[in-house]
Amino acid sequence: MSTPQASYVRACVLGDLAEDTPKRVEVGGVPVAVVLTEGEVFAVHDICSHANVSLSEGEVEDCRIECWLHGSSFDLRTGKPSGLPATRPIPVYSVKIEGDGPGAAVLVSVTQES
Ligand code: FES
Repeated sequence: MSTPQASYVRACVLGDLAEDTPKRVEVGGVPVAVVLTEGEVFAVHDICSHANVSLSEGEVEDCRIECWLHGSSFDLRTGKPSGLPATRPIPVYSVKIEGDGPGAAVLVSVTQES
């Protein structure tokens, strides 16, 4: 049995990301919020699981991204919401960094949830 290969796509470069400021990108037609926080890069589905709101327009704090509309916030590591009104997690995607410094490529796989 073989596992499907994750296909990583270049989403941006590290220098495009400001700490705690989400960046919206599209990876294979999927909206993704890429976040640099606490020295790590995360990629999550950009649409809130409660309604059609772009999470990259919200704030990042304590490794969570907040939906500005009703205030649920989602853990960037697990996608789980902190509380109502959102009840379902958002997909969290695998990230790889290739290279060094601000020109390092941020690669995201939307076929592989982490
Ligand atoms: S739309 Fe995100 S919490 Fe309601």
